[in-house]
Amino acid sequence: MAAKIIDGVRVSAGIREECKKRVTKLATHGVTPGLAVILVGTNPASLVYVRNKIRACADIGIRSFQYEFPVDAAPAAVIRLIAELNRRPDIHGILVQLPLPPHFSIASVLSTISPDKDVDGFHLYNVGGLVIGDTVFPPCTPYGVVKLLEYENIPIEGKNVVVVGASNIVGKPMALMLMQREATVCICHAKTRDLAQFTILADILVVAAGKPNLILPQMVRTGAVVIDVGINRLPNGLLVGDVDFEGVREKASHITPVPGGVGPMTVTMLLVNTIACAERRLAVPVAGSAEIAVT
Ligand code: GUN
Repeated sequence: MAAKIIDGVRVSAGIREECKKRVTKLATHGVTPGLAVILVGTNPASLVYVRNKIRACADIGIRSFQYEFPVDAAPAAVIRLIAELNRRPDIHGILVQLPLPPHFSIASVLSTISPDKDVDGFHLYNVGGLVIGDTVFPPCTPYGVVKLLEYENIPIEGKNVVVVGASNIVGKPMALMLMQREATVCICHAKTRDLAQFTILADILVVAAGKPNLILPQMVRTGAVVIDVGINRLPNGLLVGDVDFEGVREKASHITPVPGGVGPMTVTMLLVNTIACAERRLAVPVAGSAEIAVT
């Protein structure tokens, strides 16, 4: 059995069409959603991600504002900018691209962002909301994974889910969101002994470890749904995920490719969260705004 390939580009395109309608509706209230993107340094992956985010905003009518700091910038300068952006009415969402240079405390930068403008869902207030199942802004990558599962009509309730990777950006919020949907969730990480004894139990396997070929066919249950969040650049320039795609697709029922699976969804859910910020500020019900109720 060859797995169905989950097409993140197609699902993204559908959601972005909905986004355009919501932006048009906001315009009738005189509001254009605005997103501030802050980049510190010149991490090559971050440069690509930020460029993609800015481009996606332009495509659907979100106004974006890009702020760049040198790698040796003073943390206080970035925090001052965030404080100013918090006050600006034309900015609805604020995003600080991670990672930050080592002399930054990520926690103190993220805690400066107003929770109302925290489109990444990384502020402790929004993280706490996720823990108690009362999320306002779900972090974009796990939000995108949940949307992919929904679009493919893959049930979550009661399923065994194994999340490989325990980062604050993907693994932990992913586990919380799936637990909220009544899955039985197991989180594995770099110190997990005998990873395969856990992954083999998964009805849904989400992998976000940043290691090419970490997941081999013998580690996957026949018929499992495999979601590959990894993005790794091989020495030959090829972009691959964490899953041996060709091998695992012969065993799985569904699988996401890299590129073209989860990646486009992350950017799309950022657009959704930014629009939701603007709608919440306006405090009028806008068709489709129930989208943000995903927890
Ligand atoms: N770095 C890697 N993923 C992300 C993300 O989703 N948001 C931000 N701000 N930085 C990232």
